[in-house]
Amino acid sequence: MKEKKFYSVSFLLVFLLAGSIFYFKDSLLISANSFKCLKCHKGKDSLETYLNEGRFKTADELRKLVREGPKAGLHITSSDEDLERAIKYLNLK
Ligand code: HEC
Repeated sequence: MKEKKFYSVSFLLVFLLAGSIFYFKDSLLISANSFKCLKCHKGKDSLETYLNEGRFKTADELRKLVREGPKAGLHITSSDEDLERAIKYLNLK
């Protein structure tokens, strides 16, 4: 009887451990999927808001705006990789 209890407790522990690893892995994935643009662009300054305001419509317009637009200076540290991620994120063509 005592042994049975021990087994079910260890089963529960393994279950909890596996669950927390799974949970942690998920949050790691989320941080890998987010990109630096979103650190500055959230809320009313989100990229979606800019898109809805019509600041850009296509992927090329966004690339031009970020690289050559009036705010290009603010984006010197933004990588091309992040820019391409933003394009995918917004589903631009
Ligand atoms: C360090 C903070 C920061 C990061 C990182 C950043 N931006 Fe910006 N971005 C700004 C600021 C500040 C503005 C100016 C906001 C305003 O006009 O009020 C801006 C403006 C813009 C604008 C509007 C430009 C215009 O002339 O209307 C676009 C589009 C934009 N950012 C896209 C991006 C994209 C795409 C990325 C990622 C590659 C990015 N930003 C990363 C801070 C940042």
